[in-house]
Amino acid sequence: MDKLRLGVNIDHVATIRNARGIAHPDPIRAAMIAVDAGADGITAHLREDRRHISDEDIAELSEKLTVPLNLEMAATEEMLEIALRHKPHASCIVPEKRMELTTEGGLDAVGQHNRLAPLIRELSAANIRVSLFIDPDEDQIRAAADLQAPVTEIHTGLYCDLEGAERAAELERIEKAVALGSKLGLEMHAGHGLSYETVKPIAAIAGLRELNIGHFLMGEAIFVGLDASVKEMRRLMEEARQ
Ligand code: PXP
Repeated sequence: MDKLRLGVNIDHVATIRNARGIAHPDPIRAAMIAVDAGADGITAHLREDRRHISDEDIAELSEKLTVPLNLEMAATEEMLEIALRHKPHASCIVPEKRMELTTEGGLDAVGQHNRLAPLIRELSAANIRVSLFIDPDEDQIRAAADLQAPVTEIHTGLYCDLEGAERAAELERIEKAVALGSKLGLEMHAGHGLSYETVKPIAAIAGLRELNIGHFLMGEAIFVGLDASVKEMRRLMEEARQ
């Protein structure tokens, strides 16, 4: 099976920092620890309201990271301009609602085709690898493939929220979505809400190449340290892959 990369999302280090409006804890330091612990990439979401990651964080990450930076961003002119300025390795386009606590659902790649197409073209022309964050839905996967962004990230939030037979059914939808995306030539990623409890069935899906995980890792780091939480997540992912 292909290697499954782990992208560590550091947004919530910035959430804690911003609660006090001071410099500690520093998300860049967290990124460095995550990389030393085995993260293959760092993910950060620059939101319109700058509730966690700031413009300065993106500038510093772009300058200092030795692994790929995946910039999560809404499909807006402002974010396009920032991405083109810093040229991250990848940009994951996410839907963004001002009042949401976190990214609630996937992009509407079907309905938003005309809005997304020029954005994807501009990012791709700048050698930024574009990823679309979408729900495990056949029409959305086909629309993502039509948009010619090379990567699709499947939203695993609902799978994590459900239990029992409902979770199993959602897992099956994700497996089918990954198989279809791979068949259509997309590189398939997944993420949102994953924890030690939920990661293994997702990590076992052969077509997946990357998971992006943040909130759980940062929460767990409070108890065991970031180095340990990242290493344990990696261990579970590798175990699932065997
Ligand atoms: N992938 C995407 C596209 C996201 O928006 C997020 C949340 O920022 C994640 C992955 C990580 O989700 P979580 O923080 O719940 O692990």
